[in-house]
Amino acid sequence: MAYRDQREFIRLLEKEGELRRIKRVVSPELEITEIATRVMHAGGPALLFENVAGSELPVSINLMGSGRRMALALGVEDVNEVAARIGELLETKVPESLMGKLAMLPRLAELTRYPPKTVSEGPVQELVLQGEDVDLGSLPVLKCWPQDGGPYFTLPQVITKDPENGMRNVGMYRMQVYDRNTTGMHWHIHKHGAQHLEKARRLGQKLDVAVALGGDPALTYASTAPLPDTVEEYLFAGFLRRAPVELVPARTVNLQVPAHADIVLEGYVDPAEPLRNEGPFGDHTGYYSLEDDYPVFHVQAITMRRDAIYPATVVGPPPMEDFWMGHATERIFLPLLRLVVPELVDYHMPPEGVFHNLVFVSIRKRYPGQAFKVMHSLWGQGLMMLAKVLVVLDEDVDVSDPQQAWWAALNNIDPRRDTIFTPGPADALDHACPLPHYGTKMGIDGTRKLPQEGFRRPWPDKIEMSQEVRRKVDGMWKELGLD
Ligand SMILES: Cc1cc2nc3c(=O)[nH]c(=O)nc-3n(C[C@H](O)[C@H](O)[C@H](O)COP(=O)(O)O)c2cc1C
Repeated sequence: MAYRDQREFIRLLEKEGELRRIKRVVSPELEITEIATRVMHAGGPALLFENVAGSELPVSINLMGSGRRMALALGVEDVNEVAARIGELLETKVPESLMGKLAMLPRLAELTRYPPKTVSEGPVQELVLQGEDVDLGSLPVLKCWPQDGGPYFTLPQVITKDPENGMRNVGMYRMQVYDRNTTGMHWHIHKHGAQHLEKARRLGQKLDVAVALGGDPALTYASTAPLPDTVEEYLFAGFLRRAPVELVPARTVNLQVPAHADIVLEGYVDPAEPLRNEGPFGDHTGYYSLEDDYPVFHVQAITMRRDAIYPATVVGPPPMEDFWMGHATERIFLPLLRLVVPELVDYHMPPEGVFHNLVFVSIRKRYPGQAFKVMHSLWGQGLMMLAKVLVVLDEDVDVSDPQQAWWAALNNIDPRRDTIFTPGPADALDHACPLPHYGTKMGIDGTRKLPQEGFRRPWPDKIEMSQEVRRKVDGMWKELGLD
């Protein structure tokens, strides 16, 4: 089911008892963070701050901050339903015969069935502010943590077009507010926004940028999904919501923006302009990400709905709202990863690993050295290149349970034999690698070792009680009075 806009989703959350309105005046400087962090750490509801000091706009936060709300945001009961939809499409083997190929078309068409639709007007342009009227200070942008370099947009959908082939990209990159009409643009070097700017630099052009805030949460989620550059985020959002994303032409830049977003910032990044210091920022690693130089976004217009709600999130010591967004990605991308790593049974990125630091993987192992093959394949897939520690386990390990995964891995390894270290790209937020963006990865082979791998000793079975005794004790359980 598609939500028309953020309000519709908020109404549903309210009906489901998943949202609390807060009427008391609170400050966007640190106070909302403290409140939201307590609520997120306790697994609490979405919040709508109706009276935020210094701004007319309400602030929504934590709308996707649980497994249930993340699923509701994508219009399903469980995000695994989306994975199953993708899995079904991918199972389609291309048949040899022409009739077979034709028969397959409707299934593949599902992926591209809801391309974005251009409309001539939309509520996001009910108010249009340009020139002197542009003032980012009028928005309730949060200063999240005490050492933050300033207030930050934390849930922006940053829209750019590839200057060479015109392909659109939408990515979520935080933006530090510098003054009335400029912000930082924190796209990491590995991300598509940064690649578009690099191309603009080579062509000697400025890069048009539009930033959408709010609208249907499926759009917000899609901008965080690690899609290849050939798959456009609003097409993917159309697939998720089973309805096209409606786009209107932006007023001052050559881009289209979601018609039902709450707020849009229009402007440009000039690759010829010197980079500017950005940060620090209390990040999703639970540490401050350090100051660094990033491009500057110049905002030349703000358009918004009359009833706009400013969407935000707060990241910090995990688990926070972003864990649930990343978790949805983990589930949804499983069938896609299986295309390139067919022995992959499951994988999991536990909250304490903040996505890139730790990935547990279970595989169906058939031949010697397969765990190492799997590590290298995964490090070769898109943003998986940033995975710092990869632990490979056998298929009988439930990797969604980190305690079980470590238990199996730690029992099964001989550290010198079963670990590899390899150089590779590191996440921009990794503060421990010796050079920015470049560090070491560790692969741990926690699978059962085969004789062909030189292991000559017997391998013990995992302890399990016999079925017979279990059944017998089941029968006497009530009598034992141990419940
Ligand atoms: C709340 C949140 C904040 C994020 N902030 C950033 C950021 O500041 N910079 C960045 O490069 N990626 C950030 N990401 C991750 C990107 O959104 C993600 O890697 C996305 O796939 C990037 O899109 P792209 O592959 O089209 O570049 C953030 C993700 C979330 C959920």
